[in-house]
Amino acid sequence: MELSPWLILFGVLVQASVILADTNVQDTAGLTGIAASWDTKPSNWDGNDPCGDKWIGIICIQDRVTSIRLSSQSLSGTLSGDIQSLSELQYLDLSYNKDLGGSLPSSIGSLSNLQNLILVGCSFAGEIPKEIGQLSKLIFLSLNSNRFTGHIPLSLGGLSKLYWFDLAENKLTGGLPVFDGTNPGLDNLTNTKHFHFGGNQLSGTIPSQIFNSHMKLIHFLVDNNNFSGSIPPTLGLLNVLEVLRFDNNKQLSGPVPTNINNLTKLAELHLENNQLTGPLPDLTGMTALSFVDMSNNTFNASDAPAWFTALPSLTSLYLENLQIGGQLPQELFALSAIQTLKLRGNRFNGTLNIGSDFGSQLQTIDLQGNQIDQLTVGGTQYNKKLILLGNPICNQGNNEQYCKTATQSNPAAPPYSTSKNCSGLPATCLPSQLLSPSCTCAVPYKGTLFFRAPSFSDLSNESYYLLLEKDMKTKFLSYKALIDSIALHNPFFDANNNLEISLEVFPGGKVQFGEQDISDIGFILSNQTYKPPPVFGPYYFIAQSYRVATEVPASKNSKANKLPLIVGVAAGGAVVIAVLLLVIFFITRRKREPKKTEERSQSFASLDMKSTSTSVPQLRGARTFTFAELKKITNNFSEANDIGNGGFGKVYRGTLPTGQLVAVKRSQEGSLQGSLEFRTEIELLSRVHHKNVVSLMGFCLDQGEQMLVYEYIPNGTLKESLTGKSGVRLDWKRRLRVILGTAKGIAYLHELADPPIVHRDIKSSNVLLDERLNAKVSDFGLSKLLGEDGRGQVTTQVKGTMGYLDPEYYMTQQLTEKSDVYSFGVLLLEMITAKKPLERGRYIVREVLAALDRSKDLYGLHDLLDPVLGASPTSLGGLEQYVDLALRCVEEAGADRPSMGEAVSEIERITRMAGGAPESASESMSYASRTPRHPYGGDSPSEYSGGGLPSSRVEPK
Ligand SMILES: *[C@@H]1O[C@H](CO)[C@@H](O)[C@H](O)[C@H]1NC(C)=O
Ligand SMILES: *[C@@H]1O[C@H](CO)[C@@H](O)[C@H](O)[C@H]1NC(C)=O
Ligand SMILES: *[C@@H]1O[C@H](CO)[C@@H](O)[C@H](O)[C@H]1NC(C)=O
Ligand SMILES: *[C@@H]1O[C@H](CO)[C@@H](O)[C@H](O)[C@H]1NC(C)=O
Repeated sequence: MELSPWLILFGVLVQASVILADTNVQDTAGLTGIAASWDTKPSNWDGNDPCGDKWIGIICIQDRVTSIRLSSQSLSGTLSGDIQSLSELQYLDLSYNKDLGGSLPSSIGSLSNLQNLILVGCSFAGEIPKEIGQLSKLIFLSLNSNRFTGHIPLSLGGLSKLYWFDLAENKLTGGLPVFDGTNPGLDNLTNTKHFHFGGNQLSGTIPSQIFNSHMKLIHFLVDNNNFSGSIPPTLGLLNVLEVLRFDNNKQLSGPVPTNINNLTKLAELHLENNQLTGPLPDLTGMTALSFVDMSNNTFNASDAPAWFTALPSLTSLYLENLQIGGQLPQELFALSAIQTLKLRGNRFNGTLNIGSDFGSQLQTIDLQGNQIDQLTVGGTQYNKKLILLGNPICNQGNNEQYCKTATQSNPAAPPYSTSKNCSGLPATCLPSQLLSPSCTCAVPYKGTLFFRAPSFSDLSNESYYLLLEKDMKTKFLSYKALIDSIALHNPFFDANNNLEISLEVFPGGKVQFGEQDISDIGFILSNQTYKPPPVFGPYYFIAQSYRVATEVPASKNSKANKLPLIVGVAAGGAVVIAVLLLVIFFITRRKREPKKTEERSQSFASLDMKSTSTSVPQLRGARTFTFAELKKITNNFSEANDIGNGGFGKVYRGTLPTGQLVAVKRSQEGSLQGSLEFRTEIELLSRVHHKNVVSLMGFCLDQGEQMLVYEYIPNGTLKESLTGKSGVRLDWKRRLRVILGTAKGIAYLHELADPPIVHRDIKSSNVLLDERLNAKVSDFGLSKLLGEDGRGQVTTQVKGTMGYLDPEYYMTQQLTEKSDVYSFGVLLLEMITAKKPLERGRYIVREVLAALDRSKDLYGLHDLLDPVLGASPTSLGGLEQYVDLALRCVEEAGADRPSMGEAVSEIERITRMAGGAPESASESMSYASRTPRHPYGGDSPSEYSGGGLPSSRVEPK
């Protein structure tokens, strides 16, 4: 503690002798009213002087509150109409409080000074209040990723200063409102550069007025809606447009206006998955294009157009299922920036000539299902991905390496993860902490970046992530955010065509961020203060909640703030105060001293090993460890190596002398239960060896200890991924991959292990994920061998986990493999809903059955599905079949359930329906210097840039 108590005393006396509260009374009442409708409030929101006491997230100019920034504060409840009291408010950011919801109060419209209204990733519902249209100074409106319903109010057309307009990922219906003869509409927003309306249920035709020569739009995103009719020919008037997304509207039809090639600044064009007709659009002259996707439309049949080879910045050309024919020009492969060509399902014919000077960034050519009958590869053999399956050339018996499905020819590459710069052995961290890229243990701020239109498609090229890491770190530091480093993980394209990347921001100089730090960093991202390098295009960010542990030393401010109260009580005697302060000082100091870790007893003397030692199990593959060895590799079972609680004791991380990481499970002292489970686990695990079953490396029965040593599985449990705890995001295809692995693991236990094994505790926390997202079934403490007496069932005391437990087994106590099938069925449902099987009296099986309507798409389960999956029938291929399988697995009678082997084949079939194996990628290659230009940066208006940076925080007088 660096503040002397005498100094504090001095400060207090000075403060106390002036005034205790100096915030405007109306503002204080407003904030108190707002906090009253929250279940929790920021930790130092006490008293009646928000400005003087520096309440978390509150910024004042003199005695008036001008900013509320409370992103990622785990707030829950609603936003009270008391907000209207804060008449000087300019910034309101409540983003990333996912339990903050209800409808927005209409009184928000009276905040006549409001410039930035940012409510990203909350749960606000109901209609968008039309009164928001009265906020004449509003520059920045982000209501994306909430649950708003109803129409876009016409009144928003009155926001004449609006620069950023984001309503994406809600449940909005109706059309885009335009000038009605009296009232301005969205076509009057002539200062707005960003229209982000994707991922709603907007419908009707796109009004032609919305594109006019006064508009300055650079991003127009209306993808994943229900728009119909044709694209108005006025589109050509938006001549500064850079990103255009019309994709996934299904009903959008008619020809693409021919003047589209007036859009000479357009870099990303998405027209895929509509019903567009007429000739294939001519993109000649659109020289800034880098990403073009026009797949799955119904254009007239045509031959390969000339513009194919005339787009110098093109990285990605996606033209699937479009009846384009003729020979592919060799120059296409020589484009200097080209990375991915997805051209399957066309009529390309004749000879495919890739030539010898193909572009250095070229990674994938997918020409499945065309009519190519010859291949010419000049010079060195073409060694990137080329898929010719379903072409006549594949009937000739040669070129077999190009005639396999993607899965066979290219196993999934490990997902990207920022490397850690540790010299020697990596440190090990407490369970709540992670190792930062600079090799310190800390609690990172986590979330997901969603890039809505990146200009590249090659996810195996690490240079993009390195660029982003470096850029974020530099800029965050320049905004005075106290960070140590940035880590990125698991990039992938999700069902909405967004590039998702998991982000971790590590605190600098301390183990975890304080609430104020989090609100500052959240604001940098929610307010788009941070702009990524241009190749990444527009983005949004969704944070996970960040729990600030209570033992974190409070800031000087909040300490000092509590003192006036004490002063009040003890008013008069300065000596009394001084003594009091000294006492407080020493108490707080004592508390902060690290707790001494108690020495653990070296052996479990009380455990009677005789009962078990008579039959030390026969082991294949597993070895015995001495107590001393395990003590050494876990650094004396240090707290830092404690990675969680297993079935019957603690689990520690250890590093073998070979450098291999292992997990060591140590039985609790004197646990008889543990003793049984320990033996069961050794006996069973030493019999089984399968890719999808965690493998036992050895055990220790030394000095009365019972310990098991497993391979270390880095990505945690499936449960942690589903709840978003681990930062591994699972899209639909990845979920299928994980569930297929799990099913294979269980099927192996049932059908190939001899004698068969019933696991008895299949659940999401017993499935581990390795770095390639391979599922590993673990925790065999409750498992049983079947059929030693040839009967295939045993009578046993019922064990398992509520929610997953087979009711038939529970009633009859007869255990068969079908009990695992039941639990697996529950797990299948958990995978698509991301809900606990049993929560507050709601049982997942019953919920799904109640909502099920097989006549609707996705069986009418939209509301139950995990929002992360992005519930649309096109993106969730095979979901119906998946639900059918899950429901068969949870049939009441075991006999009606499929075997695990049957489940495996069914999941394989569903995986193919969903579009095959996860995104595969070939070996990474160096990043060519010629990066396609993407002019996203530098487009902010002077009114908003800088005005809201944490660094420009105005301190109270
Ligand atoms: C709004 O735009 C329309 C044209 O789309 C124009 O006729 C009208 O005057 C504009 N109204 C205002 C208030 O700017
Ligand atoms: C194309 O853009 C120019 C300005 O760059 C504009 O004058 C012209 O009207 C546009 N043409 C069409 C057909 O929209
Ligand atoms: C085109 O449609 C097919 C089948 O629905 C789908 O698998 C594919 O992903 C779509 N292509 C693009 C680029 O969206
Ligand atoms: C390829 O298809 C075109 C029509 O798209 C046809 O005119 C041409 O003869 C075909 N070429 C070969 C080699 O089959």
